[in-house]
Amino acid sequence: FENGLGRTPQMGWNSWNHFACGINEDLIKQTADALVSTGLAKLGYEYVNIDDCWAESDRDYQGNFVANRQTFPSGIKALADYVHAKGLKLGIYSDAGTRTCSMKMPGSLDHEEQDVKTFSSWGIDYLKYDNCNPAGRSITERYTKMSNAMKTYGKSIFFSLCEWGRENPATWAGSMGNSWRTTDDISDNWASMTSRADQNDRWASYAGPGGWNDPDMLEVGNGGMSEAEYRSHFSIWALAKAPLLIGCDVRSMSQQTKDILSNWEVIAVNQDSLGVQGKKVQSDNGLEVWAGPLSNNRKAVVLWNRQGYQATITAQWSNIGLSSSTAVTARDLWAHSSFSAQGQLSASVAPHDCKMYVLTPN
Ligand code: GLA
Ligand code: GLA
Repeated sequence: FENGLGRTPQMGWNSWNHFACGINEDLIKQTADALVSTGLAKLGYEYVNIDDCWAESDRDYQGNFVANRQTFPSGIKALADYVHAKGLKLGIYSDAGTRTCSMKMPGSLDHEEQDVKTFSSWGIDYLKYDNCNPAGRSITERYTKMSNAMKTYGKSIFFSLCEWGRENPATWAGSMGNSWRTTDDISDNWASMTSRADQNDRWASYAGPGGWNDPDMLEVGNGGMSEAEYRSHFSIWALAKAPLLIGCDVRSMSQQTKDILSNWEVIAVNQDSLGVQGKKVQSDNGLEVWAGPLSNNRKAVVLWNRQGYQATITAQWSNIGLSSSTAVTARDLWAHSSFSAQGQLSASVAPHDCKMYVLTPN
């Protein structure tokens, strides 16, 4: 999809995972403020994305979207100006159907060009485009129409398809948008997170600069998983070149949450210029190795313990694309320390936790 955007996976925040329909303009402004004051913006989290429920239930007499008068009284253009003044970008949400998934606002089906023109006139930088209420029309028709409208009237808008992976979007969405959901909605628990990691993994070969697989947004900081589980969630999403879209309330996040989301070494793996999705390369009864190539012949490796007990996990060079004689400097991205290794890499990993490394051949 040649709009020049998404050369690395998108980073930012989205309202849905924490707030669902409970959103308003003050929340969006305060979130933009918090992204800056916490230092997250500087680390690359640039998109502030409004999800479902931002519009009035009906269009105006000319068929235009209208921002919800109670919750977004100043309108979306004013909000975009505010967010832009902070050096950030504003995202919005619509649906390739008659209504969005919440049913609270119209979708964009048969209003594609009009809506993209509206979004452009407001200064919108990102569109998440969902797949509810399709009115019996084909996915190809509905997403092609919006993709074409974006190519003409939304050239500078990142286009995120939210199709839940039902129709193998990795195989066709690369020509239509900058990312595509490969899974159903994530929930804030271990089983949901791990299964989305696995579903997304199947499509690794289709990801690359300009178009990314999307296993759904981050739940880090929402309270349903342990610190170890959130560390694993963040590490695997980073390795898999998934969008890093924060889904918690950044205005009140704990230090622990902030530490996970702010790990710049893990973020650097996600944002590496090579843009190759890391994959599961070894699996032994829940003791897993995920790995992928980085620029400059480096490798990213995650040792992931999906068992409920402490365990030693050993990554073999042959499984991560290194010849057995290669000696490397291994950088531990959570401990922020380095050591030497050759042939294999072993570590004891706590239950549901992970270790993450970048290996640089000597
Ligand atoms: C779908 C999407 C979610 C969210 C909701 C909003 O379920 O997959 O990410 O956007 O709709 O209603
Ligand atoms: C809900 C879910 C979506 C999808 C649709 C299907 O909105 O959140 O992921 O499963 O239902 O109608």
